[in-house]
Amino acid sequence: MEKLQNLLLPITEIQPVFPDTKYMGSKKDLLPFIFENVRKLKFENVLDAFSGSACVSFMFKQMSKKVDSNDFLRFCFHIANGTIVNQNSPLTPEDLNLLLKNNKNRKNFVKTTFGEMFFSLEEDEFLDNLWANIQELRSPFKKSLALAAVSRACMKKRPRGIFTFTGRKNWDARKDLKISLQDQFIEACKVYNLSIFDNQKENKAFNKNVFQLNPDPYDLVYIDTPYVSPYSDCDYVRRYHFVEGFSRYWKDTPPVETTLTKKIKSYPTEFSSKKTVSSAFEKLFNHFKKSKLVVSYSSNSIPNKLEMIHLLKNFKKKVQCFEKEHLYSFGNHSHKVNNNNNHVKEYLFVGED
Ligand SMILES: C[S@@+](CC[C@H](N)C(=O)[O-])C[C@H]1O[C@@H](n2cnc3c(N)ncnc32)[C@H](O)[C@@H]1O
Repeated sequence: MEKLQNLLLPITEIQPVFPDTKYMGSKKDLLPFIFENVRKLKFENVLDAFSGSACVSFMFKQMSKKVDSNDFLRFCFHIANGTIVNQNSPLTPEDLNLLLKNNKNRKNFVKTTFGEMFFSLEEDEFLDNLWANIQELRSPFKKSLALAAVSRACMKKRPRGIFTFTGRKNWDARKDLKISLQDQFIEACKVYNLSIFDNQKENKAFNKNVFQLNPDPYDLVYIDTPYVSPYSDCDYVRRYHFVEGFSRYWKDTPPVETTLTKKIKSYPTEFSSKKTVSSAFEKLFNHFKKSKLVVSYSSNSIPNKLEMIHLLKNFKKKVQCFEKEHLYSFGNHSHKVNNNNNHVKEYLFVGED
């Protein structure tokens, strides 16, 4: 109960902070570099077109911009809706009581489908129960916050935050893996609550394939697609299928029974294959050609720096490329921290008229 009482800190009196994230390709550590190069540009309405963890959206929100965030993953939409669009609805201790109560109407989809593949049976029950309780929250922002928090809790309780293997492989002594899922969830509610603030702008969140977005409203579009690399695939659904499935309670996205991890089918995206990625960028730059374009990419990805500049120059008169040495610790470049392939140059391309 004490934990619940601590939940509602006086959020108006403290600086909002965005929680750390291990999301694959997260730009959290690169925010100072991105900020340094976008602050010089003139813009009011910005689209974070591939928002992922929403940390870049949060930076734009802190810059007092009107921010639209988009990602085709549903759990990423909920992070943006709960933290970027939401200006003043944190989860209260009363909400937490509702979320943690025993719900007789709960289903048992997680328990019967996944058993002990990712979590204990007790933790599966907690998730089934939580889903039923989340449906009772009336505010869409609070629903999103709770879904963002449960996704974070589940990822914290997995080595490297991913669902590509089952059981306790790579399970080490880290504290995060020992904390119960319920306590992880309460902690996640707390940290997402701390990110909520009002920037006096009508921010929005979308859950669409990027090409379905209306390109008209934006002065600037920030583009951070999956990085296509020869060293590793960049399939977000494969890594995060469990939290993505949970965020829909697997409605319309059933687990594929024949797969080892019971993952859902990957969503098609032209940005994850060597064959289609260059034409996808061309199509994307054309789609948003009226806006300033800011693109994150890295030196060991496809297309390379010169090709990217060439593609941008088809649509923008002035193209600049800023660079920074960067060490990825996980995910898109290699699974091994000390592998040289992780030492890359991070690029920020800026295209203007
Ligand atoms: C490199 S990550 C973005 C990381 C984010 N900027 C951050 O800092 O956390 C790329 C994102 O693109 C999303 N994505 C991939 N293809 C997409 C598409 N066609 N439309 C919308 N989102 C897409 C993925 O779900 C993933 O979250």
